[in-house]
This record gives sequence, structure tokens and C-alpha cells, in this order.
Amino acid sequence: MTGAGGPVGVAVVGCGTISDEYLRNMTSFPDLNVVFCADIDVDRAKTKAAEYGVPDVGNTAQALDHPDVEIVVNLTVPAAHAEVSAMAIAAGKHVWVEKPLALDTATGRALLEQAAEAGMRVGCAPDTLLGAGLQTSRRIIESGRIGAPQTALALFQVPGPERWHPAPQFLFQVGGGPLFDMGPYYLTTLASLLGPAHSVAAVAGRSRDQRVVGRGPQAGTTFDVEVPTHVSALISYVGGQSATIVLSFDSPLRRNGFIEVTGTEATLSLPDPNRFDGDVKSQTADDEDWTVTPASGATAGRGLGVLDLARSLRAGQPHRATGELALHVLDIMESIARSAQAGTFEPVRSTFTVPATLPAGWDPTAPTLT
Ligand SMILES: NC(=O)c1ccc[n+]([C@@H]2O[C@H](COP(=O)([O-])OP(=O)(O)OC[C@H]3O[C@@H](n4cnc5c(N)ncnc54)[C@H](O)[C@@H]3O)[C@@H](O)[C@H]2O)c1
Repeated sequence: MTGAGGPVGVAVVGCGTISDEYLRNMTSFPDLNVVFCADIDVDRAKTKAAEYGVPDVGNTAQALDHPDVEIVVNLTVPAAHAEVSAMAIAAGKHVWVEKPLALDTATGRALLEQAAEAGMRVGCAPDTLLGAGLQTSRRIIESGRIGAPQTALALFQVPGPERWHPAPQFLFQVGGGPLFDMGPYYLTTLASLLGPAHSVAAVAGRSRDQRVVGRGPQAGTTFDVEVPTHVSALISYVGGQSATIVLSFDSPLRRNGFIEVTGTEATLSLPDPNRFDGDVKSQTADDEDWTVTPASGATAGRGLGVLDLARSLRAGQPHRATGELALHVLDIMESIARSAQAGTFEPVRSTFTVPATLPAGWDPTAPTLT
């Protein structure tokens, strides 16, 4: 049973592709109690609820009416993120939302203001931030091993998600493209390591105006590409560091998960920011090879951010994958898009507080809210 002190009641809204990973994990975390599955396509909600043993199903309004639901996990498509999150907050629910927080910074900011006024919390993907790989990287940087971080290089280059996603159109519409779809993993990681950005410059383009669905019932269907599919950006941080990032759906060559942070003493090679595990490697100018540090921490996968939100809520402490951080990342992405269009350096005006690292031994499977 949910309620003050016990496991936190959760409703999933949006039972599509990524809901499987969330549901599999969240139903295995004893501090969460998944009580409702909702979707505009109620049959999808029914299928997922049956598969993961979730007791109630229906539409979004019914999920928000459910008395045991404290956190709404919004896994809808980006165009619906802000609307569904705003409905949840208005109903007195805390929100975890998939990335991006909203389609634009103004809408994202309004959502956070609405939440603050209502006394509700907003958490936002990516929660890979809480995974073993990135937490280990943060601990290494905080230990001083690479000296003072100066620069970063991040690369995400793939042929495009229409090759594997059964309904990929949204990934090529406003709110998608490599910048808004994959940028959050790389930019959130960089933000957690380097702090807030203050300006960006970028160029962008697209290799073709139409793509073809590669898999599933829609395979062979042609659809329009509405956003840039290759983005190269420079980011300047408030702390004086800089980053170079390439995000591309136009690359026959696959080279993704690449993030290096170079400090005054060594370069750190991070694991894929879209994963929860992976080795962390460092190299000084005197080393001939990498020194490998295995990642230690939670590797369960998506849903860790919901769990941290739930536990932090009960403890009255700040959660880590905050709406504020997501808004800053959205601001960076919007500024990159603006810069690419205008050919100018663009300021990034929002800021955020770097979240605390997770305590050693943070265990998703331990019941702490009995
Ligand atoms: N697919 C992935 O591998 C992946 C990975 C990480 C994050 N994400 C993010 O997760 C989100 C969902 O992606 P997906 O791939 O699962 O998409 P999807 O299209 O497979 O699923 C989205 C679901 O949301 C439902 N939905 C849409 N609008 C709704 C609304 N207004 N109210 C209720 N339900 C609504 C749809 O009916 C659908 O079932 C996106 O923000 C995406 O960026 C996806």
C-alpha cells in the first residue's frame, strides 16, 4: 500500500516502446508501487499492464484521478510531454518525464513554475546520470585525478533511428532529430561534469528530406524529415571550459557513446551516456595506455530517476535528475538550433545547481520506504 512513509505510487502514461524498460525496472524496485498504466490507445495500456502485473488501466484522466498515484511517469512522445506533465501537476501529482522536458524553453519554464507554485516536483530523463558509469566518472573527476577539467569532446554519429524504431516519425519532427533526441544524454552528462553553459555556436544540416521506416508494421513507409539531422556545436561554460559536440543521424559510420573530458593532468574517457554501466578510462601525457576503472554503482536501467525522485520525496531532500537541469539542457539545445539557423553565437541564460552524487551503496533493490 502506498502513502506517507511507504512505497511511492506510480502511474505510467504512454505505454509505447520505452515503457517496457521502465515497467520492468520500476516493478522490481520495492520502493515504487506501479498502480496504473495509461495511454491514448487504451489497448496498449492494457497489454503492458497485463505483462507487468499492473492492477489498473485507462486513460490519462483516470490515472490522474487514482488516489494512490503520487508520481506520474510521462513516457509519451515529445510533443505531448508538456501537456501531460501540466495535467499531472494540476491534479496534484509529481512528474517524471522522458526527455526532452518540453519542445521549447518557454514551455519548459512555465511547467517548472506551475510545479513550484503547486508544490510538486519535476524530474526528467536522462537518468543515465545516476548510472554506475557516469557516477564513477564524476567521482574520479571529484577525486582530482584529471586535474581541472578544461575541454570536452562528444560524438554521436549513426545512420538514423528509422532503421530500428517501429514508429520513428516523431524522431524527425520538432522535438526530435539528433539534437533533441540524443543531445540530452551528452549535454546532461557534460552539464553534470562542467556545470552550466553560457553560450553556444553551431552549424547544422540534413542529408535528405525523406526517410523510410525500416522495421515493424509500417516498414517501407516514407515520411518527411522536418529537422536538421546533423549538428556540430561548440559550447562555452560559465566555469571557463569548452566542449565540442557532433550529433548526427546522417553518418553511415556508427560512432556513438563517445565523451572525453580533458583536464590539466589527464583525459577521462567516459562510458556511453545512454547506458548505465561501462568502464571509465583515464590517460596522462606520460601513460602509453588507458588506466581502466570499472564502474561501480546502479546499473538497473531506466526508472532509476523515478526511484531517486520517490526516495528524495519521502526524505524531503532534493532529487538529482531535476527539471531545472533538464530546462538548462533544453535551453542549450534551443540555443544550438538558433545558432545553426542564424549563424551567430547564442547566449544560454538559464542555470541549474549541479546535483549531488549518489551515496556509495545506493541500492535500487533495497526496500527503504517500508
Ligand atoms: N524508444 C527508445 O529507445 C527511447 C529511449 C529513451 C527515451 N525515449 C523517449 O521516450 C519517449 C517515448 O518514446 P517511445 O519510443 O516509447 O515512443 P512510442 O511512440 O513508442 O510510445 C509513446 C506512447 O505514448 C502514447 N501517447 C502519445 N501521446 C499521448 C498522450 N497525449 N496521452 C497519453 N498517451 C500518449 C502513444 O500512444 C504511445 O503508446 C520519448 O520522449 C522518447 O524520446 C525513447
